[in-house]
Amino acid sequence: MGAMDIGIDLGTTKIIIYKPGVGELLREPAVVAVNTKDDTLIAAGQEALLMVGKTPEYIRAEFPLENGVISNHVMTELMLKEFLHRACSSFLVKHRFVICVPSSVTEVERRAVVRTIVHAGVRTIYLIEEPIAAALGAGIDVMQPNGSLVVDIGGGTSDIAVISLGGVVLSESLRYAGNHIDEAIVKLMLSKYNLSIGKKMAQQIKQQIGNVWNPSSDEKTKVRGRNLLTIYPQQIEVSSLDIYDAISPFAQMIVAAVKRVLDKTPPELASDIYENGITMTGGGSLLRGLPELLTQETGIQARVAENAIEAVSVGTAKAFEYADLLQTGFSQEQANNY
Ligand SMILES: Nc1ncnc2c1ncn2[C@@H]1O[C@H](COP(=O)(O)OP(=O)(O)O)[C@@H](O)[C@H]1O
Ligand SMILES: [Mg+2]
Repeated sequence: MGAMDIGIDLGTTKIIIYKPGVGELLREPAVVAVNTKDDTLIAAGQEALLMVGKTPEYIRAEFPLENGVISNHVMTELMLKEFLHRACSSFLVKHRFVICVPSSVTEVERRAVVRTIVHAGVRTIYLIEEPIAAALGAGIDVMQPNGSLVVDIGGGTSDIAVISLGGVVLSESLRYAGNHIDEAIVKLMLSKYNLSIGKKMAQQIKQQIGNVWNPSSDEKTKVRGRNLLTIYPQQIEVSSLDIYDAISPFAQMIVAAVKRVLDKTPPELASDIYENGITMTGGGSLLRGLPELLTQETGIQARVAENAIEAVSVGTAKAFEYADLLQTGFSQEQANNY
């Protein structure tokens, strides 16, 4: 039965469609380009990403789930349909699908996602909550009466959850994640260097030299942008210390949220978590120094899962093995209702 199952991680920045035993059928940036005159698809994924910020008036290219909410239903639907078609058009009907949508997405939006997938031809659909999927994917045995703390940091949303006995005991979801660091870097480059840069450049800076633990003036990278005073393109070199102020508030916010969740955690579970440590997933958890900072601030060992970026997609597909056991965060949707 397992071979007939497919997991979809509908992330805010990327989409992975995963089939156990086969691997990833698709991994694409969650971006789509649409012709605004007739709402037809122009490009999706990598190809659409190249268009962002460079489109003529009649084309709209964007990440429709960027902020952890569905900003545009038409674009989301066109994107999902295209990816389903590319990854698994020949076996949509035969397979059971489990989908993980960002936890901040509303019930109405969630139903819209299911509707799109039903309309694409899928008959059996389950939804899974992000923290459960992340924990399963990171290899945590979520069925045990043993508390785990999972921190998943994506592009648009971060989730902190305590899991035990196949259910989410308590959780907090923030509409604040990796992409917000990029925005902060854009602002800092403007105010500190009069340099106007794009979000892609900012993301590159973050990934290359972002460091919230031991930033130094030796870790440097080249930054290209436009000097606002001369209006000319300019290239400068910045260090991880130079950009620390743009990144540090983000790290503090995550630390504070984890502390809030720990404060509310019942003592027995808290002691499990102390033993087991904190598991970090999502691309945002790869920010250098974040596990060290979390460990220092909470007194609990924080580790980034080996498959941090893939964990949610792997966990979604794995959820079928536990379908009858998962207490919360896993539900079947009736195709007839859509
Ligand atoms: N090495 C890295 N260092 C810091 N941030 C990273 C790194 N790799 C990816 N990211 C960030 O992770 C975020 C995307 O995480 P991901 O889990 O793929 O998102 P989502 O699940 O929301 O689609 C982006 O903001 C991206 O810039
Ligand atoms: Mg994610």
